[in-house]
Amino acid sequence: MKLEITPVVKGEKVHFKNPDPAFYEAIGGKEGMEKLMYSFYDKIYESDIAHFFPQDEEEFDEVKFKNSKFFIQICGGPKVYEGEAKGMDLDEYMVRLHDEFSITEKSRIEWLGTMREALEEVEGVDEKLIEDFWSYLDNFSKLTVNTFSDGSKYYANL
Ligand code: HEM
Repeated sequence: MKLEITPVVKGEKVHFKNPDPAFYEAIGGKEGMEKLMYSFYDKIYESDIAHFFPQDEEEFDEVKFKNSKFFIQICGGPKVYEGEAKGMDLDEYMVRLHDEFSITEKSRIEWLGTMREALEEVEGVDEKLIEDFWSYLDNFSKLTVNTFSDGSKYYANL
C-alpha cells in the first residue's frame, strides 16, 4: 500500500478530491468510520502533536465526536456535520477552523503519520480505496499548514 506524503509548497494552489464513497461503505459505514477516528485520536495523544489538542477529557471527547461526524460526511455518508459549518462552505470552514493553531509542515507530517498508523490497522478494505482516502488527506492537510520554517505565516485559500 502506497501512502506517501507529498510536501506542502507555500502559496501553491492545492488540488484535492473528496474520498470515494466506496471507502465509507467498505470500512463499515458510520461505525467503521468512528472506529478509525477514535483509534486515530488515541494515537494522537501519544504523538508529538498531542499538545495542540484539549487536555480536558470532555473537550477531547467533543473534538473526537465532531471529527468523526466530519469524516462521515466528507466520505459520502449522511450529512451529520452540516450544522457545525454555520452555513459556510464545508471545505472553507474546515480550513479556517485550523487557522487558530500554528500548524507547520512538521506537525502535518506527524498528523498524517498518525493517521497512516490507524489506517494500517484497518482490515478487509481494498488497498486502492485506502490510497484514494489517503490522497484526500495528503492534499487537504496542506491547506491546514499556516506556519513556515522562515517563521512566516500564510493562510491558504481554496
Ligand atoms: C486532512 C486534514 C485534516 C482534516 C480533514 C482535519 C479535520 C478536523 C476536524 C473535523 C476537526 C474537528 C472540528 C470541530 O471541532 O468541529 C479538527 C480539529 C482540529 N485539528 Fe484537524 N484536520 C486536518 C489536519 C490537521 C492537522 C495537520 C493538524 C495539525 C496539528 C490538525 C489539528 C487540529 C486541531 C488542533 C484541532 C482542534 C482541537 C480543538 O478544538 O481544540 N488538523 N480537525
